[in-house]
Amino acid sequence: MTKKTLPKVILRELKIEDAEDRYKWCLDKEVTKHLNMPDKYPPFSLEETKQWIRMCIERSNGYIQKAIMTEQENHIGWIDLKNIDKLNQHAELGITIGDQTYWGKGYGLSAMKEMLHFGFNELKLNKIWLRVEVDNEKAIKSYKRIGFIEEGILRQDRLRNTEFIDRLRMSILKHEFLS
Ligand SMILES: CC(C)(COP(=O)(O)OP(=O)(O)OC[C@H]1O[C@@H](n2cnc3c(N)ncnc32)[C@H](O)[C@@H]1OP(=O)(O)O)[C@@H](O)C(=O)NCCC(=O)NCCS
Repeated sequence: MTKKTLPKVILRELKIEDAEDRYKWCLDKEVTKHLNMPDKYPPFSLEETKQWIRMCIERSNGYIQKAIMTEQENHIGWIDLKNIDKLNQHAELGITIGDQTYWGKGYGLSAMKEMLHFGFNELKLNKIWLRVEVDNEKAIKSYKRIGFIEEGILRQDRLRNTEFIDRLRMSILKHEFLS
């Protein structure tokens, strides 16, 4: 991992008002390019975004999703754990820094560290995994920096604009994260 000091982030519970920022970020095609979202523009209406956030708050969609906040209390993105498999103690991670002005400054790394800490220590997971499109180089670089290891290629795993894209599956184990 990088030796630079990471900027501090706070992962807080979602609020229904987060829908406004979320909707705005989802209008940015550079932000959504690699996200698993419907092939239409905008991907969701403001009302759909609110409904989704409501489901996350109520924990009725299987997601533990949190808002990423800077130390100065700027709302900059979201991060989640889903597909939580209690039997085998693993879950899937997803992250988006929606405000592009915060890209490439260590905020994604910092948010992932917090979420991994939560997943391994609070949820008692043994493994946290993710799927990332093979051409999302920036994200892959960040995941490797945190310590995610490549597990393999999921062939033609995402239908993106009429084209099937391979996704890379990566994971990090509890003992790897803690060491
Ligand atoms: C992928 C994504 C989450 C990465 O988050 P990010 O905040 O932009 O990136 P990171 O926190 O990993 O930052 C790492 C970069 O910041 C730089 N950096 C600057 N200050 C730093 C610091 N204090 N500590 C560590 N890195 C720092 C690093 O050198 C690195 O730059 P480099 O890749 O040019 O070498 C973000 O770009 C994003 O949301 N993209 C769109 C949605 C998406 O694709 N999500 C993933 C779907 S699988």
